[in-house]
Amino acid sequence: MTLNIELKAYPSVSTAMGASPSASNPNTLEEVKLDWRERLRNRIDRWMVSPQLYRLSVSTFFTRWYTQKRTREVFDLMAGFVHFQVLLNCLRLGVLARVQQSPCSLAELANHVGLPANRLDRLVWSAVALKLMDQRSGARYGIGPLGVLVVSYPGIEAMVEHNALLYADMADTPQMLKSPEGVDNAQMHHYWPYTFGEQTNERIPPSPARDIDTNHEQDAANKTARYSQLMSVSQNFVIQEIIDNYDFMPHQCVLDIGCGLGRFASTLAQHHPGLALLLMDLPEVVKLTERSHVNTHYISRMRFIPGSFKTDPIPSGADLVTLVRVAHDHCDADVLALLAKIHAALAPGGRLLLAEPMADARGERQDAYFHFYLMAMGEGLLRTPQKLSSMMQQAGFSRVELLSNPMPTHARILIAHKT
Ligand SMILES: C[S@@+](CC[C@H](N)C(=O)[O-])C[C@H]1O[C@@H](n2cnc3c(N)ncnc32)[C@H](O)[C@@H]1O
Repeated sequence: MTLNIELKAYPSVSTAMGASPSASNPNTLEEVKLDWRERLRNRIDRWMVSPQLYRLSVSTFFTRWYTQKRTREVFDLMAGFVHFQVLLNCLRLGVLARVQQSPCSLAELANHVGLPANRLDRLVWSAVALKLMDQRSGARYGIGPLGVLVVSYPGIEAMVEHNALLYADMADTPQMLKSPEGVDNAQMHHYWPYTFGEQTNERIPPSPARDIDTNHEQDAANKTARYSQLMSVSQNFVIQEIIDNYDFMPHQCVLDIGCGLGRFASTLAQHHPGLALLLMDLPEVVKLTERSHVNTHYISRMRFIPGSFKTDPIPSGADLVTLVRVAHDHCDADVLALLAKIHAALAPGGRLLLAEPMADARGERQDAYFHFYLMAMGEGLLRTPQKLSSMMQQAGFSRVELLSNPMPTHARILIAHKT
């Protein structure tokens, strides 16, 4: 099959750059320099899409790799949705779980999931291509190098299932981009009841479409339990990054705000026998948190604080406050107010540790996902470490450091100091 791709006319340098410096429009030296760089950039871009250069590049050993790489990257952009569907359906149908038990033939797999082999083969071949599965001897299929990760960590599997909401919401991306009201019906927004602001459970709107529950209070309680469970099961990589890269030894008391079910606090309690822990979250979450630690040996060192950081005071007494995957759920005004309250609650010498995925100033591949995930939630925002640092300083912190942790995909970590 031959694809005929018609190249769009590329804007000429003069149209793209506008008028050159003149007496009536005096450009600064900086602008003239930029202008020169932009012109060079424009020229390179034109080379990059030139059919002659393309043919030359693919026929030459030394340049072919680059053209192949760019082509693969563009193709991957187009194929992202399909890749996700392959992953999701391999999980939902139990295909990955089956081949993890033991490698099996296509016929056995088809029998196991109850689908015709001559339809299931597309999913299996795709899963092999995406390294979720691999081919074994005797025409059998086994678990692949990426598939084994997905099925071994319950947090990854839970997040994949959860992502289906975002993908459904993004079927109407222009609606989300139009205005904040564009996310009112987003399933992701309804998944997180606290993204509706300071409302009582009765006033949280029921989920749209298929998720409507007639009993609002029960609906809100179910949603709280559901998101708390998801956070707990997906927190282990983040916790690992924090405890491996920050020394908690000098601290006596840690306050974890937005603690969820308390998995981070309980890890700290187990690693540091002298540490006291304050766990703060919304009242309906704290009820669940307290219940899940009641029979532990460290419960006597834990104090549970039901409340909202927006409307309730932040308790004093901690020499370290932690915000783990909390700030990115909220708008700038709420985060600034929270940071100022934390600063006021800390004694001089106290610190704030903020850990969550952050944007790269120049843009990283994973940023695209988080930008839309947080937008679909309501008022969330993926911020750069620079932006968060400046907000911390605005809130009164004197010095902010960015730790260099090996897996920034899970979270980056900022430490703010109060003097
Ligand atoms: C994305 S979850 C992160 C939970 C946990 N820190 C983790 O990393 O798994 C955000 C947490 O912040 C809590 N939260 C949201 N708004 C809050 C508020 N106004 N006051 C206190 N906690 C809040 C939520 O209930 C939820 O447990």
